[in-house]
Amino acid sequence: EKAGYRHFMAKEIAEQPVVLAEALRSGGLAPTLPDVDFTGVDRVVLVACGTASYAGHVAKYWFESLAGLAAEVDIASEFRYRDPVLSEKSFAIFVSQSGETADTLAALRYAKEKVAKVLAVVNVPTSSIAREADVVLPIRAGVEVGVASTKAFTAQLLTLALLALKAGVDRGRISPEALAQRLAELQALPGLMNHTLSLGPRIAEVAEELSRAQDVLFLGRGAMFPLALEGALKLKEISYIHAEGYASGELKHGPIALIAPEVPVIVLAPRDGLFDKTVSNMQEVMARHGKVLLISDAKGVHEAGKGTWATLTLPDCPGPFAPILYALPAQLLAYHTAVAKGTDVDQPRNLAKSVTVE
Ligand code: BG6
Repeated sequence: EKAGYRHFMAKEIAEQPVVLAEALRSGGLAPTLPDVDFTGVDRVVLVACGTASYAGHVAKYWFESLAGLAAEVDIASEFRYRDPVLSEKSFAIFVSQSGETADTLAALRYAKEKVAKVLAVVNVPTSSIAREADVVLPIRAGVEVGVASTKAFTAQLLTLALLALKAGVDRGRISPEALAQRLAELQALPGLMNHTLSLGPRIAEVAEELSRAQDVLFLGRGAMFPLALEGALKLKEISYIHAEGYASGELKHGPIALIAPEVPVIVLAPRDGLFDKTVSNMQEVMARHGKVLLISDAKGVHEAGKGTWATLTLPDCPGPFAPILYALPAQLLAYHTAVAKGTDVDQPRNLAKSVTVE
């Protein structure tokens, strides 16, 4: 069942190029946008738990930048115990691999009569969350066995990217030419992922050293901020190393006090419009003898790699969808660190694949 891999997690990480390529082809030869009409919609509210909530956080950036549509993200267990202000012009989007997470399901039931439509982004189309939603958007990742979500995360991101593009088209924000370009960027991802997976042995070397750390910080800016949160969650879940993700700009408002040579800092920084700002935060870390792993593209590593502890060079990924690619080194770092520590990668202590109690 593991198809020659040592763990389901390794297999599921490796499957991602095929999962994305097939999901992009699912409607025919060219990718199709979801059959959801955003005309008149004033806001989307994304609700989920764990890794799925970080997919929601990334999607918030896409709804805002690609569609000019207001977007909010909530953790399911918090959403329903506040008094969230919902309108009948809003869509609520529930993201869940299993479709059975109790808090997410309860949040869906809470929102159902208060919003225009309830959408479910799920991996299991027969799940409770899918059954109770108005619109089901299957992510088509195939069965995910590893408790720490990997291929479901990138497949959720792909589905949410297509949804944000549909919102942009419906709201007149995306021209046919711009749409063609964005779709081409998505179609390039499986190839870029294959290239990134070939960095596995190098990531395993870095992870060997990471496995000796007690605390690790992840930094990212813009849509890389949720990836910093996801990288930290993955590392905590399977290697039991304490890790925190921060928005790079928040560094100086607290976490900089933690910087020390024995606390590795992992910086997710593609060479985009925010690169210089993130690099200046990274330099603040290095000036305090922090040990930095820079994850960027060739240009970024060339410009800013000097003085770092280590670098990982990913292929160029122009456009807004780089978070989908940068999920892979985050997953591989957590995986190889856990392997180096000898923890139970597929069944981490205290965690369940699907949490059906609140
Ligand atoms: C957690 C899992 O318990 O539930 C995470 O360990 C997952 O990996 C989270 O992200 C949410 O699960 P789901 O099925 O709703 O996406």
